[in-house]
Amino acid sequence: MSYVNMEAILENARKDHYAVGAFNIVNYLTAKAAVEAAEELNQNIIIQTSVKTVKAFGIQEMMGFLKPIAENARVNVAIHLDHSTDVAFTKACIDGGWSSVMYDGSQLPLTDNIKNTMEIVAYAKPKNVTVEGELGAIVGVEDDIVVKEGDHAHAKPADCRIYLKETGVDAFAPAIGTAHGVYKGEIKIDYDLFEEINEFSLCPLVLHGGTGLSDEMFHRLIGLGASKVNISTAIKIAYCQGMATFSKENPDQNDPLKLDAFTKQAVKKVVTEHIRFFSLMD
Ligand code: 13P
Repeated sequence: MSYVNMEAILENARKDHYAVGAFNIVNYLTAKAAVEAAEELNQNIIIQTSVKTVKAFGIQEMMGFLKPIAENARVNVAIHLDHSTDVAFTKACIDGGWSSVMYDGSQLPLTDNIKNTMEIVAYAKPKNVTVEGELGAIVGVEDDIVVKEGDHAHAKPADCRIYLKETGVDAFAPAIGTAHGVYKGEIKIDYDLFEEINEFSLCPLVLHGGTGLSDEMFHRLIGLGASKVNISTAIKIAYCQGMATFSKENPDQNDPLKLDAFTKQAVKKVVTEHIRFFSLMD
């Protein structure tokens, strides 16, 4: 198959009422594990990179190892930039080869968010790059964006209507009560709000804060129109725990390739479980 943008992947998901997993990868190993899991299930996949991860590698270096993984995959793969709050950096990633970007202006006043998102859409469209936007405030820590419990704000339908019409984004993430990171208290999701927004949304909806949601929650939200589901923390946990488990069980083992192979399996298992569920295979 091929290296595509998000539209190519999400259009069918929205039409056929399933979701595509978008996994935050942190290096070659996690990207390869995620794409192999998708290939084995014959499902399309979005691999996404946080701004912090891209900065750790450098734009060129990161795309240098991600693009061949996507191009050589047996399924469609999109490479998406997650939660970029910086217009210039978002444009640099578009120039650097990302097939999709999220411009996150959700912490700005609505008019500024719209203005910046429109600038990104205008820059991205001629290059066949898709754009995701966000409204409201999703609690938790994602990269360097920290939203405290008290600052949580659900997306407002009236704002969403204006934002969607003005910006023409390809995918939209409204804050509905999910959170980034590990959930601490009770999870309170506004399902009615999500359904309402999906009904008038011109583009597929994105669910952020996927780690820790129950099967029932995923099922309900996918039924209400979530076409892309973001999973980050679960990947990081699988990666770190995979390494720790291997090292603990094999204290005298010094072969990094064996450590990598074990860790890759741990990441692949988590991605596989999520894709199976999102694509309604179970
Ligand atoms: P989690 O870390 O909760 O899986 O959230 C992922 C996410 O929404 C990334 O944008």
